[in-house]
Amino acid sequence: TADTSKILPLAGKQILVTAGPTYEAIDPVRFIGNHSSGKMGFAIADELAKQGASVTLVTGPTAQSTQQKHITRIDVTTAAEMLDACLQYFELADACIMSAAVADYTPITVATQKIKKQEDSFCIDLKKTTDILKVLGERKHSNQLLVGFALETQNEEQNAIDKLHKKNLDLIILNSLNDDGAGFKLDTNKITMIDRSLEKTTFDTKSKAEVAADICQKLISLL
Ligand code: CTP
Ligand code: CA
Repeated sequence: TADTSKILPLAGKQILVTAGPTYEAIDPVRFIGNHSSGKMGFAIADELAKQGASVTLVTGPTAQSTQQKHITRIDVTTAAEMLDACLQYFELADACIMSAAVADYTPITVATQKIKKQEDSFCIDLKKTTDILKVLGERKHSNQLLVGFALETQNEEQNAIDKLHKKNLDLIILNSLNDDGAGFKLDTNKITMIDRSLEKTTFDTKSKAEVAADICQKLISLL
C-alpha cells in the first residue's frame, strides 16, 4: 500500500501532548484531583496524528481512549510523574502542547494508613508542585514550539498573556469557564489563542475535535 504520510503537514514531526488531571495522594484511599476529563488533550493528540505527527500522549487518570497507531500513550498519576515523563520526551520533540490540568499543590506527606476522622475540622499541609510548562519553557531550544493553556475566570486575556511570557511559550490557549459551552466535562469548548506577537484570535464555541483542528492549524503555521 502507498505511504501517504509524507504529504501530511506534520509528517516527521514528534509532538508531546499532555492531557487529563493529576491525582495527588493524601493517604492510600484518597487524593486531590480536579474535574479535567482529558477530552481536549486526547482530541488534540488525535488531530495531530491525523495530520501526520508522531504523538507522545502523557495523560493523567482518564476514561478517554485513542485508536490511533501514531499515538504512544504514557499513563501517569501525579504531577511529579507527569514532570518526569515530560522531561524525558520533550528533549526530542518538535513541539509540546500542555493541556493537562496539573495540580498546583500536593500533600507534603502521604499518610501510609487511611486517615481516621477525629476533630471537626482538619487541615492537610500542601506544597507547590513543579510548574512543568515553566521548566519546559526554560529548556526549550530555538527550534521547539511550546503551547500552554490558561484557565481563567477573571482578567482573562491579561492573565493569559502573563503566562505566555512567564513560561516562555509560543502560543497560549485561553479557556474561559464563564461560557456555557466551555468546560472540563463538556464536548465543546470556547477558546482564544494568543501568540508571541500578541496576535489574538477568538473562536466560536465548537466541538473539542474542531477546537483541536484549529489549534493544530495554528501550530502548523508556526512550525
Ligand atoms: N501547568 C504545568 N504545571 C503545573 C501547573 C500548570 O505545566 N504545576 C501548565 C498547565 O498544563 C497549563 C498552564 O500551565 O498549560 C497554565 O495552567 P493554569 O492552571 O491556567 O495556570 P497556573 O500557572 O497554574 O496558574 P494559576 O492556576 O494560579 O492561574
Ligand atoms: Ca494552576
